[in-house]
Amino acid sequence: MALIEAAGVHVRFGDRVVLESIDLVVPEGEFHGLMGPNGAGKTTFFNVLTGRVKPSRGSIRLDGEDVTGLSSHRIAAKGVARSFQIMTLFDEFTACENVTVALPSFRARGFDMRRAAAGDNGFAETALGVLATVGLADKGAVRARDLSYGDRRALEIAVALAQSPRVLCLGAGRAAQGKAHRGCDRTRHGIPVRAGRPHIGDPLGPGRRPRHPA
Ligand SMILES: Nc1ncnc2c1ncn2[C@@H]1O[C@H](COP(=O)(O)OP(=O)(O)OP(=O)(O)O)[C@@H](O)[C@H]1O
Ligand SMILES: [Mg+2]
Repeated sequence: MALIEAAGVHVRFGDRVVLESIDLVVPEGEFHGLMGPNGAGKTTFFNVLTGRVKPSRGSIRLDGEDVTGLSSHRIAAKGVARSFQIMTLFDEFTACENVTVALPSFRARGFDMRRAAAGDNGFAETALGVLATVGLADKGAVRARDLSYGDRRALEIAVALAQSPRVLCLGAGRAAQGKAHRGCDRTRHGIPVRAGRPHIGDPLGPGRRPRHPA
């Protein structure tokens, strides 16, 4: 059974049809990309997949379960994470802290960064492990605002990976793609699917799998 199955998805904004009869099947363990010119509807499709936009027709199934029209919060709770085209980091937090606040175990304790910093090094250790998967092992103590653009994109992906998602929708730019794939390498057994959005002309075509080390 496919992990993601979109069938006949249709979205219109006013009288403008943005998505028309979109079908997409993503089996477990695969990396897919959506390609198209600016304004083609890629982000809108991601918004449908993640519950931010409700389609006027069609359905989205996640592992066989119909999740069409569920809120983004409920879809996220089912293991669908995403990084955005625009940055969604805490600029004053370090890279490690940004990942830490995304850890489900940390969130379960009520977002208390001081308590985490003062007492439990387990969070930082876990966060640093996630950072290492996207090539930021040595940047844990750097504030997000001081990272380069590429590293910030990679950090966004680390924040998404911290949630141990079943599906990761990447709105990442080219600079972060290689790092994202490293993250996929590390997690290929734990996180089965990536739905990617490579930029136009990116060597990753639709359906092409990330390279894994032998
Ligand atoms: N909330 C909205 N209300 C009205 N129109 C919208 C809305 N969101 C997107 N659109 C329009 O829908 C079309 C598709 O936009 P979308 O952002 O999905 O394209 P995209 O393929 O992601 O583009 P880009 O490559 O620039 O990121 C655009 O014409 C956009 O202006
Ligand atoms: Mg877009």
